[in-house]
Amino acid sequence: MTSPHTRDDSAPSSTRSPHTRGRVAVVTGGASGMGLSICRQFAATGHTVAVLDLDGEAALRVADELVADGATACGYDVDVADRPVVDDALGKVRAAFGSIDILVTSAGVVAFDTFTDISEDSWNKVLAVNLTGTFNCVQAAIPDMVEQRWGRIVTISSSSAQRGSPRMIHYTASKGGVIAMTKGLAREYAPFGITVNNIPPSAIDTPMSRSSQAAGHYADNDTLSKSVPIGRMGTGEDIAAACCFLCSDAAGFITGQVLGVNGGTVI
Ligand SMILES: NC(=O)c1ccc[n+]([C@@H]2O[C@H](COP(=O)([O-])OP(=O)(O)OC[C@H]3O[C@@H](n4cnc5c(N)ncnc54)[C@H](O)[C@@H]3O)[C@@H](O)[C@H]2O)c1
Repeated sequence: MTSPHTRDDSAPSSTRSPHTRGRVAVVTGGASGMGLSICRQFAATGHTVAVLDLDGEAALRVADELVADGATACGYDVDVADRPVVDDALGKVRAAFGSIDILVTSAGVVAFDTFTDISEDSWNKVLAVNLTGTFNCVQAAIPDMVEQRWGRIVTISSSSAQRGSPRMIHYTASKGGVIAMTKGLAREYAPFGITVNNIPPSAIDTPMSRSSQAAGHYADNDTLSKSVPIGRMGTGEDIAAACCFLCSDAAGFITGQVLGVNGGTVI
């Protein structure tokens, strides 16, 4: 018998009752930063959580943590840019827990280059993970939601796609594509009871922002905080709170929206 928090789990799903025992939520990039906070928040509210991440060991560790806290969770080693791998992982999620109710696409990479220095490789990598990766996961998961006439999808973009950011044209282009994809999906799938919304974070204190600071691309947290009207950096929990609301029944009349969780930085 396999353990419920390993990537090889194939336990039957017949006992799941989504409305009384929580839903099945898939979170990409769930091993770190805001994805991790979202996984924790979903688990705390009774959802079953599938943690997908390029860092498979970290995904398993997160699943272990959630299971230790009494949740049902599973970790999967997934590159969202690799469609067969995404399909395989979501097949395992279905085999373990039943159909997918909620998808959050937090997996992402950031890059900094002046526009003329963006190499073809860098352009392709950023687009492959941030934009095609979002496409892959939504296209692989959404048939379950269509079938059951209920679904919640939250994509994660960036405030840089709303405002424009120098030296990040590949990144902002990928995140702008995510926003446009989200709006189109919202219209296409509204008749099926599926809502699709986007959160464009700004200045969230995560490993990604810390490594960007360490590389000299971002100002430090004190400096960044002064540029935020609310006067502090955002946290993964700030993002998770908004995300979990958008994935709730209470948010059923909200779709196609871009919900800034940014301390007032972009209004
Ligand atoms: N931190 C910020 O201030 C900020 C601001 C705007 C947007 N964002 C976006 O928010 C999202 C989450 O960022 P974060 O700050 O939590 O970063 P993070 O680096 O802490 O977490 C991102 C996770 O995505 C995973 N990942 C990367 N490439 C992957 C791939 N190909 N397949 C699967 N998983 C992959 C990483 O392993 C990591 O666990 C990203 O999409 C990022 O672009 C972050």
